[in-house]
Amino acid sequence: MGNQVTVSDLMDSMEYGPATESAAEALAWLVDRGDRFGHFIAGQFTEPGDGFEAKNPATGEVLATLTQATPAEVDAAVDAARKAQPKWTGLSGHARARALYALARLIQKHARLIAVLETLDNGKPIRESRDIDVPLAARHFYYHAGLAQLLDKDLAEHVPLGVCGQIIPWNFPFLMLAWKIAPALAAGNTVVLKPAEQTSLTALLFAELTSEAGLPAGVVNIVTGDGAVGERIVTHPGIDKIAFTGSTEVGRKIRTATAGSGKALSLELGGKSPYIVFEDADLDSAVEGLVDAIWFNQGQVCCAGSRLIVQEGIADAFHDRLRARMAALRLGDPLDKCIDIGAIVDETQLSRIEGMVAAGAGEGALFQPDCHMPGRGCFYPPTLITGLSPASTLMQEEIFGPVLVSTTFRTPAEAVQLANDTRYGLAASVWSETIGVALDVAPKLTAGVIWVNGSNMFDAAAGFGGLRESGFGREGGWEGLMEYLRPKGTAKPLKPLALAERADKPAPADPLDRTAKLYIGGKQARPDSGYCRTVYGARGRIVGHVGLGNRKDIRNAVEAARKAQGAWAAASAHNRAQILYYIAENLSTRAGEFADRLHAMTGGPKAKAAAEVEATIDRLFTWAARADKAAGEIKAVPIRGTALAMNTPVGVIGALCPDEVPLLGLVSVLAPAIAMGNAVVLVPSDPFPLIATDFYQVLDTSDVPGGVVNIVTGSHTTLAATLAAHMDVDAVWSFSSSDISAEIERAAAGNLKRTWVNHGRACDWTGEDGEGRAFLRAATEVKTVWIPWGA
Ligand code: NAI
Repeated sequence: MGNQVTVSDLMDSMEYGPATESAAEALAWLVDRGDRFGHFIAGQFTEPGDGFEAKNPATGEVLATLTQATPAEVDAAVDAARKAQPKWTGLSGHARARALYALARLIQKHARLIAVLETLDNGKPIRESRDIDVPLAARHFYYHAGLAQLLDKDLAEHVPLGVCGQIIPWNFPFLMLAWKIAPALAAGNTVVLKPAEQTSLTALLFAELTSEAGLPAGVVNIVTGDGAVGERIVTHPGIDKIAFTGSTEVGRKIRTATAGSGKALSLELGGKSPYIVFEDADLDSAVEGLVDAIWFNQGQVCCAGSRLIVQEGIADAFHDRLRARMAALRLGDPLDKCIDIGAIVDETQLSRIEGMVAAGAGEGALFQPDCHMPGRGCFYPPTLITGLSPASTLMQEEIFGPVLVSTTFRTPAEAVQLANDTRYGLAASVWSETIGVALDVAPKLTAGVIWVNGSNMFDAAAGFGGLRESGFGREGGWEGLMEYLRPKGTAKPLKPLALAERADKPAPADPLDRTAKLYIGGKQARPDSGYCRTVYGARGRIVGHVGLGNRKDIRNAVEAARKAQGAWAAASAHNRAQILYYIAENLSTRAGEFADRLHAMTGGPKAKAAAEVEATIDRLFTWAARADKAAGEIKAVPIRGTALAMNTPVGVIGALCPDEVPLLGLVSVLAPAIAMGNAVVLVPSDPFPLIATDFYQVLDTSDVPGGVVNIVTGSHTTLAATLAAHMDVDAVWSFSSSDISAEIERAAAGNLKRTWVNHGRACDWTGEDGEGRAFLRAATEVKTVWIPWGA
């Protein structure tokens, strides 16, 4: 009796006793299945085969054995998905909505089992799997049940992509599954999903739920295995889209492997997200937010606020508060409901973290609280490293563990510069009680998701995804659904257009030198090569000469575009609209001259050329009209705040313009891009370049600031790779009739820039295809900004 702890002892020490969640049900679920799993293909589990072990990282205990999918098994899963797809698509949106709703209900019904199994398999605290991962997954299915219901009505002109290959990581196994599967199914696709080899169990449990929900066989297929299975999925010819979440390194490999295949691709990759604290922030809240930002899920979060950027005057005080808070974090058994920090996913990840910290911490000052470390399992203490220089490895590289690095700034401008000094662009937090400061800095941060006075807020209604090497594509909201849809109809193959040949007896050349130059930074520029090409018209007559641009010209054009883009994006949408109207007006006054030029180059009836000029003026009006009406949306998120989905410019866009309608094509590409605040480097139609070089005279008289539109004439095949490989180009589009889509996608893997290429398919430039929603999407990045907002 003497040693018994009394209530008054407890009140004195305020120690936590263990409050362990029972693992019994989850372990029984595993035992019932023989602790061995095959794949889930066509609605059935396959016989377990050779494979690997699923381990509990907190204890090292083996939970089950899993099967490494053979190529034949991946083929079988793809076949099953392919077979199931027409029927699934053929269902009404309402029928698919009911299926997704049933899944949401089942997730809620089995929420505790899923949460416990997730914690056993991944090592994350039960508090997080129970209160965050699983409820958010259910919310995702509810929300997408809604999108499925509305799809027929709101996006009737769209169809699903087909079979989606989905590859997910180990940090949020069940939640990432929901983020992938819910939109794919809502849109009418079927899926083959591969969970990470470290954490496959909740995906296998989900497979059972799909049967319980009455989902038709083959709509969801789950195959287990490592990166080799992932590679097989990525390169499988029966798959129409790859959705990947994981490391930037593997993302780059996938971009390269899918280049030219015509597969749609979305990539959610790594990050090194800044967490900016101004001296006028509510410091206690900012400390709490930081706990969430970097110690949630042991810091194994792609959007973790892993880079603290704190204003110099309060840095010491802030670090002191932070260290005190860190000392109060509880690390240990993830099933204990009082635990803040659980286990790292596996030994490999643990030694990666240890290795990175050992190599880099010496450059700064390392702090780890004296917390109790369990005697076994993969644990790493919460860590703060201060005094690092912005260029040090630990400030730049993703650690993916509970390690926060810190640096200081003096002015808001310096904070922005430090925050954006990264190859990533996933998320950012900004803390200031001064609305002017917070809302001035937020839009300047290069990130897909920005939290004002908050961190790590997610919701199915709000798009999530990155910029730069954090990948492309969004998950959540209508914008996420669009990643699983394409416009109705089958585009015809595009016939390559050869350069016109000279006639046997060419007309004498114009006695005046009319070699059209390039247009860079608002000025005419001679091509660096010093070469030009004779342009022959439809009848083989010489219609002029055009400069042959090269790599150096592209570099100059990109530099000019970059210089001009910031101010252009900052101009008001009204101002950009006015300039587009002005271009239309000036083109209109010279309509006859442009029609003659078109006719001379392309031949055909004169009326056709005149109609192309009229259609071009119409198109300019469309984008002038849209410029001030496409700002974005407000998302109804279930927190006390709001999320703005802002359509922001992509940046510098390089585009290979269509050959078949040289003027309308050029303007159909240029207008949406500049309407939304981008600057462009255009390579006009190769066979008919003179219409573009005439057009810069129109630009000159229409108040388009120098550098916003740059025109480099030359061979598409020569210039495409240069544009796509350029590290300061943010996106490349190609509507060329030359076969360059694969080359562009491959070269774009360097900085993971966005691409939009035609894969040799034609576009009806005169109709909706030439000015539809796809242009707006390609010309913008949806930036989700979460702001506190009283309700
Ligand atoms: P990973 O990127 O290799 O794994 C993610 C998924 O991709 C897994 O399902 C894996 O089996 C699969 N995979 C691996 N190689 C593949 C390939 N060649 N083709 C297709 N699929 C492939 O990530 P890993 O190795 O588990 O972790 C390494 C680092 O990546 C971490 O330290 C962290 O920095 C980062 N990471 C980032 C994540 C994020 O959410 N942004 C998630 C997981 C890891």
